[in-house]
This record gives sequence, structure tokens and C-alpha cells, in this order.
Amino acid sequence: MSDQTFYVTTPIYYVNDAPHIGHGYTTVMGDIITRWHRQRGEDVWYLTGTDEHGQKVLRKAEANGVSPQEWVDKLVEEEWKPLLKTIDIANDDFIRTTEQRHFDGSKAFWQDLYDRDAVYKGSFSGFYSVGSEEFVGDDDVVDGEGEDEGHKISKLDGSRVEHMTEENYFFRLGDYQQKLLDFYEANPTFIQPESARNEVISFVSRGLRDLSISRSTFDWGIGVPWDDEHVMYVWVEALLNYVTAIGYGDDHARFEKIWPASIHIVGKDIARFHAVIWPAMLMAAGQSVPHQVFAHGWLLVGGQKMSKSKANGIRPDEIVDTFGSDAYRYYFARALTFGSDGSISWEDISARYHSELANGFGNLASRVAAMIGKYFDGVLPAAGEQTDAELSVVDIVAESVRDADAAIEAVAPQDALAAIWRIVDGLNGYITDQAPWKVAKEDPDSDRLATILNTTAEGLRVLAVLLNPVMPKSSAVLWDSLGAETALGALADQRIDAVAAWGQLPAGSTITKPASLFPRIETAAE
Ligand code: ME8
Ligand code: MG
Repeated sequence: MSDQTFYVTTPIYYVNDAPHIGHGYTTVMGDIITRWHRQRGEDVWYLTGTDEHGQKVLRKAEANGVSPQEWVDKLVEEEWKPLLKTIDIANDDFIRTTEQRHFDGSKAFWQDLYDRDAVYKGSFSGFYSVGSEEFVGDDDVVDGEGEDEGHKISKLDGSRVEHMTEENYFFRLGDYQQKLLDFYEANPTFIQPESARNEVISFVSRGLRDLSISRSTFDWGIGVPWDDEHVMYVWVEALLNYVTAIGYGDDHARFEKIWPASIHIVGKDIARFHAVIWPAMLMAAGQSVPHQVFAHGWLLVGGQKMSKSKANGIRPDEIVDTFGSDAYRYYFARALTFGSDGSISWEDISARYHSELANGFGNLASRVAAMIGKYFDGVLPAAGEQTDAELSVVDIVAESVRDADAAIEAVAPQDALAAIWRIVDGLNGYITDQAPWKVAKEDPDSDRLATILNTTAEGLRVLAVLLNPVMPKSSAVLWDSLGAETALGALADQRIDAVAAWGQLPAGSTITKPASLFPRIETAAE
């Protein structure tokens, strides 16, 4: 490994409202990828945060009769930061765009753009969507119907637009069409999945206009360094969080170590900002561009995209309070294909919780510990000679570790979990076939019983390590129940590339029955 950091980001979310599970989804997936890379022994940095400027937030604060600063302070402290605890996120940093470091870094970046002649003053007359904080070209505006009767609507996302005429600064985005197309071609995985890549390429192929990047009719934003009549356009300011959080403009060594981002995880609504405007801004400032933008799909509830404005948003704690944060993380990673839209439902969460987590995994962990307790007084016995049955478990484990690691590399956590579950299923099948309770009765003097229970305990050791990025709480309980810390050290220090090596838990380890990892839940109220 180079000494370059593996740098993962989420979008910074608008604090016009409280978070829902769509935001939780992006942040959990980033966290799983981050933790997995940490467990590969890489130097990792995980950033998330909040987007606090712009008209959308300003209007929301005004509608609630408070200043925008009061509004964002309250929501960030009471809703957005607590979300990270609710869903067990191990972020390294949290950036708020109202912080001084973001003001300073953004101004430094703007000055660099200005000095390189990437910015000029002009005037804008056209449509703007406050809902998506986006300038919308005349061709993309249509007359609204139904509820939107009498309003102009953006074809891009159905949001209402307003006509505005303002003096603005412009960024020479139009100069970057060919440069971007060449860049996408030379870097085929820059924007993923393929559906997002195709959409971005076709958008850029249609032509790029210079982009208005400042506003001059309100002041909830960061002033343009050379002209305090203007604040930065909120999107251009927001994208800069990825560099202002790591020392752009004031800590060169730190910035160079962490930048460029390894992966920006975003929803597909904002793929274009990240895959078109952002790399062009970076090229204009003479900076390297990120390795990858990964655009995931929508969480659909009852067939509809869940959103703050549709008021069909489910709060993460509604699910976590019932199923726990581990099951929450598992469900979103396992049940959806990262990169595609996917429907979620309470029934599906409950079904997977009971069949996969409670019966499949939790039950396995408690049965093995209970049998070692019963037959060996809770002391792990040494394994005797391996038969084909044990060798097959070892093979399944080795292959599963390889496949899971490759799946994370391909940003497909659902495939990583499918691979890991081959171990869960393999161990359950092995126990059924080997029937240790029968061996205990019929062949108590052979070393078969010891071999079987040692093999299953080893399998659980591997599961604790592989599942730690996804379900850190239950993995820690499992690690503890295997008495693994004494001989092998902390769970977080176990390396993915070493996990499949067989026979790491020493005979003599103390095995205790864990508290039920996934107790059955009555969800009759639903
Ligand atoms: O766009 N399904 O913030 P935002 C899945 N501030 N993910 C969803 C979702 C859904 N139904 N709804 C929201 C912004 N998301 C800007 C970003 S970044 C420099 C600035 C997630 O509060 C998804 O990640 O509107 C989406 O891209 C993001 O929330 C939008 O959050
Ligand atoms: Mg949005």
C-alpha cells in the first residue's frame, strides 16, 4: 500500500429538515465500505456532514420564524449528529458548511479559480429550482399540471422553478466538455454504476454551458472573496466541503496525503453535480480529481421515492428502535442492490431479521457456544484429524473471504454479504450433517466431537471478523464469547487477508454463551 489515504465521503445533507432512512442508507453504506477497508489495514478517512447554506434552508428557517443560523444549529445538534449514533457510524470527521474552516477553504479555492481565469462576471436570466438548488435551462422547463398548475416545473426532477434575473459570477464550465468526455473515457470507473455513467456521458455530450456560481439577492452563504455583494452558489460551495475538511488552503501536507477522494458515495439525484461540475472545478483549480463517484438508487416505499418533500420519510430510529442498529445496517446492505432502486418494507425487514439473523446467524453462534459449554465445560478443545467435511468448511471460508473482498472492491456490499452468508449456511449444514449431539452419545471417546466443535468455533471467528464492518455490535459480542481477544487481540485489528488462515483460536480458549444476538421480535402491531 502507498501511504495515500483511502478517503470516503457521503453527500453533505441539507438541514432543511430531519434525516430519513434515505440519508441513513448512504451513510451506512459508506460506513460499511470504510470499516472494511480499515480492516484490510488501510489508512482510511470517512467524512460526512451537513449542507447549511442556500435558499432552501433559508426559506425553511424564515417559515419557522428563526434565523438561519439558529435553525441549522438546532437541527444539526438535535437531529443530524444523533443520527450517526443511531445507526452506529464510525466517521472520522463531520463538516458543517457554517464552520470557519469551510469558509476559509472555500474562499481559498475561489481565489485559485479566479487567479486562473476560470471565473468571470456576467448576468443571469433564467430559471432556478430552490427545491434542488439548481439552475434549470429553458429547454428543461415545462408548465406544471395538477397540483403544480400555474407553476413552471423542472423536467430534471419535477421540482418547481422560479424565474430570476441577477448579476452573477460564472464558471467556464463550457470549456470542459471535451476534457470531461476524454476523462470519462480514460477512467471508465470514475462514475459508476454503468447506468449513471451513461447518463452523465450523454448529458455532457449534449453540450455544457458556463455555470452561474454566485448569488446576489440574499446573503445566507459564503461571500465571494473579492466581491462581498455576492455569496457562492450553494452547490459549488457544498462540493468544496470534500477539500475544505481535509486542509485545502491551510494544511498542505494533510491535504496532499488524503486528496483525491477514493470514492464519493452519492444518490443518483446528485450524480451530475459530482461527475460533471466537480471534476471541472478541480481541473480548473489544478487539482486531481476523485477516483470514483458511486451513485446509488432510490429507496422506494410503497413504490414511491421516499423524500422529505413527499412526507413519506421514515426516520431511521423507527427501525432501529425495534430491530437494533446492526439489523438496520445488515438489512439495507443485504436486501438492496447498491446502485439500483429498491423497495423496502417492514415485513421484509422483519422476515430477513428472523430468518437470516436470528435463525441463521444468531442461533449458530449460541448453539456452538452451548455445546462447547455442555461437552467441554466451555473450554475450546483441540481439533483432531480433518476429514473431507472439515476441509470443505475450510474451502468455503477461503473462497467466501476472496469473494467478499472482491465485492467490496466492486462497491457491491450485497454481494459481499451473500458471500459471507455461504459461511453461515455452510456451518449450519456442517453441524446438521455431523450431528455433534449424536457423536457425543455414540462415539464419546473419539476426537470427532472436539474436531467438529473446534471447526465451528473457527468458522465463527471468521464470521465475527467479516461481519464486523456491517454489524459491529453483534460481532463484538461474538468475539467476546469466543474468548478471542486474549489470544488474537482486538477484533478491529484482525485483517481480512489473514482471516481465512485456519486454526487461529487456540485450544483452551474460554467460550461463553453470548447473550442472544438477535432475539425474536413480536411485530404484531404492524
Ligand atoms: O442533495 N433513497 O442534500 P439532500 C436513497 N446537500 N437515498 C436518498 C433518498 C432516497 N429516497 N433520499 C435522499 C443534497 N437520499 C446536497 C448534497 S453534496 C456536496 C451536497 C440521500 O439532503 C442520497 O444520498 O437532498 C441523496 O443523494 C442525498 O440523500 C440527498 O440529500
Ligand atoms: Mg435533495
